[in-house]
Amino acid sequence: MTIKNLIKKAIEAKENSYSPYSKFRVGCAVLTDSGEVFTGCNVENAAFSPSLCAERNAISTAIAKGYKSFKAIAITGDSEWTYPCGVCRQFMKEFFDSTDIYIVKSETEYRKYKLEDLLPCGFGPDNLNTEEI
Ligand code: THU
Repeated sequence: MTIKNLIKKAIEAKENSYSPYSKFRVGCAVLTDSGEVFTGCNVENAAFSPSLCAERNAISTAIAKGYKSFKAIAITGDSEWTYPCGVCRQFMKEFFDSTDIYIVKSETEYRKYKLEDLLPCGFGPDNLNTEEI
């Protein structure tokens, strides 16, 4: 799977967005280290707070299938550049320290980051090492 194809998958996933309240669609595709691709879209809810972001949808789908190592993630939304929300950045912190994060404007325009760029000094699994206490 090339990054170009991963980006296409994220753009396709956006089409399935269930976002009747915000009318803001987001699509996401994750590529595992072993080459599988999982996609997700945002799923909103009439009670608002149960709404799920595209990123956590895609990542959780991969986890549920037994994949925990990720090579890349592509994220695209209805704004020119849709960056992950704070909750999704923290969610990624569990698995994404070395993952390439592509913020996608179109099939040909995207920006590449590492999680450290988007969540500097983040709190992660290493911070819970209670052996030091
Ligand atoms: N949203 C995502 O799915 N991912 C993000 O990173 C930003 C926000 C969704 C949540 C909500 O359904 C809509 O976009 C507007 O906030």
